[in-house]
This record gives sequence, structure tokens and C-alpha cells, in this order.
Amino acid sequence: MSSAILLVGGMGTRLQPLTFNTPKPMLSVAGVPFTEHQIIKAREAGFTEIVLATSFKAELFEPYFGDGERFGISIRYAVESVPLGTGGAIRNAASMLTGSGPVAIFNGDVLSAHDLAAQLSFHVKNQADVTLYLTEVPDARAFGAVEFGDDFRVTAFNEKMENPPTNMINAGCYIFSREVIDSIPAQQVISVERETFPGLLNDGARVFAFIDRNYWLDIGNPSALMKATRDLLSGAMYSAATPVLSDGSFIAAGASIAATAKITSSVIGSGAQIGSGAVIEGCLIGAGARVGQEVVLTDCFVADSAQVESGVIAGGSFLGFPLK
Ligand code: GDD
Ligand code: MG
Repeated sequence: MSSAILLVGGMGTRLQPLTFNTPKPMLSVAGVPFTEHQIIKAREAGFTEIVLATSFKAELFEPYFGDGERFGISIRYAVESVPLGTGGAIRNAASMLTGSGPVAIFNGDVLSAHDLAAQLSFHVKNQADVTLYLTEVPDARAFGAVEFGDDFRVTAFNEKMENPPTNMINAGCYIFSREVIDSIPAQQVISVERETFPGLLNDGARVFAFIDRNYWLDIGNPSALMKATRDLLSGAMYSAATPVLSDGSFIAAGASIAATAKITSSVIGSGAQIGSGAVIEGCLIGAGARVGQEVVLTDCFVADSAQVESGVIAGGSFLGFPLK
């Protein structure tokens, strides 16, 4: 039994208006909810159970993912009525795991090609308390900057600082030994980044850095979310959860596309209608949306059931979303 926890309780503020009605992890990326890419990644690495740590719009996950049977992994839901922070969420969700071995924990907004099975082996080999997956970015200010020694023992964790001492960052996937999770106080608001990691380092715990420079993307803002879909559709990134494509786009069952419409690098939701002469490039068209004739859209998000009038020309826009 290999166990995992997915942190999906954040508000997704930087993705508004997309997240007014949909939690960030349920937003469509390359034709399926983003979370599905992570769940399938965990399954492919050999994980057999996963608990979704939910809070904001918690009720929207279970109708889609159910008990996980359809995805080949057991899925359960830990709901925080008040968000408990990343550490509180991990402690709360762990009580629903049936396994008692090391636990993989994922931030719910990271698309990565890192070798999860190798991270777990590295953790076990080192008899680590916690193993952090790190990657390198040009600017670490918006992330947790992580310092470590020649032996890959982590020496400092610096969450979001103005002058980070390194460009090696916390890439948002950890392996925790069960004892460390059980030492986090229950039912309290706790941040792993600001409290648990610095506390463990202060106490001399065995915290290790697992470095993997393969594809990594935090989908937490609109341009990154769009990039994730494009990279999955173009093959720059692979996910076993991406549906089968036709000509570099994903057209869901029941969508109707006029013969003269031109669709490239886009996702067209189920039941959407695209009018004649429309040109759609790099767009996410929601389920049931109606796009009129001769519409030209580039890098746009169109909401579920929205209507885009004939002749509209737009780039980089959100069309048909609620205003709050
Ligand atoms: N259940 C639950 N409860 N989940 C939460 C809560 C909570 O109270 N707060 C945040 N989360 C989830 C979010 O939904 C997200 O999936 C994850 O925890 C991380 O939160 P973000 O808000 O996305 O954090 P960030 O992107 O600013 O920073 C984090 O990720 C970076 C890598 O992308 C940190 O872990 C950084 O250290 C890291 O570098
Ligand atoms: Mg994030």
C-alpha cells in the first residue's frame, strides 16, 4: 500500500475569474480536470490510495472522482470546514489513509515530469523524515528557496523572500514519514512551509533534497494554466491522463464544429458548438459554449455555456465568466 495526499483546498485567487465557481484543481487542463493529471501520475508511480485534502468548494471533487475506481486508485476526501493551512491539511487528511508507510504529498497545482518513484526510493534509502522535490527556477522569490549541503541534507527552507539565497526551490511534492505527519498538531492552522519545515530543521531532523530538473510548472496564474494545456497538447509535456487528440486539439464527445471552422492547440468542451469560419487557436472552450460564425479567438478562456456572438475577435481574454 503506497499512500498519497493531494492538497487541493486553496482559493485559487490568482486565477479569478476562472475560480469563482470552480476550484483551481478542477479547472480543465488539456481536456480533463487538472487534478486528474496528478492522480494518474500517482497511480503510474505505483500509489494505490490518495486522499484529497479539500476545503474551498470541496463538494465539487467527489461527483467527478468518486471512489477512484474509474481511475484505478482508491480516492477519499478529507474536508476542512475552515482551511487548516498546508500542514494542518496534511495532518487532517492522513487520518483517512489506511497505509502507515511514507506518504507522498502534492501541491494541487503543479504539473511535473519528475520521477516520483525515484523520489520515494531516495527517501527510503536515506531513512529520511522528509524528502523535498526541488527544481531550479530563474527567480525564486515567489517560491520556497531551499538550501542543502553536499550530502543533500537540507539546511534551510526560506518561504517567499525578497533576496533568496538560491534558485533551487521547493517544487511542491514531498515524501513524509508517517511519524512526522503524526507530530503535526491536529486541528490547527499550520503551514508546512513556514512552520513545519523550519521546525524540523531546527530540531536536526533528516530532511533531504531530491533534485529533478525535468518539466515543472505551477499552474497558479492564467498564462501558466494556458501553457499547461498547450504543452500537453503539443507533446512538450506528457501526461497519461491527456485524452486522445485530433490534430493537436482535444475535441470532447458531443461538440459540434462547423466544417469551415479552424481549431488549433485548443480544448473544445463537450456539447460546445463552433460556427462556420471561426478560427480558434490556443483556447479553452467550456462545455456547452456556443461560438458564433467568423469568431476569431487566440489564447482565450470561454466559460461553460457561454455565448460568443458572431464576428467577435479577441485575444488573451476571459469570455462569459461571472464578474465575482
Ligand atoms: N487543503 C488545503 N487547506 N489545501 C491548501 C490550503 C489549506 O488551508 N492552503 C493551500 N492549500 C493548497 C493549495 O490548494 C495548493 O495546491 C497548495 O496547497 C500550495 O498552495 P499555493 O497557494 O498554491 O502556494 P504557492 O504556490 O504560493 O507556494 C507553494 O508552492 C510552491 C511551488 O509551486 C509553496 O509550497 C512553495 O514553497 C513552493 O515553492
Ligand atoms: Mg501554487
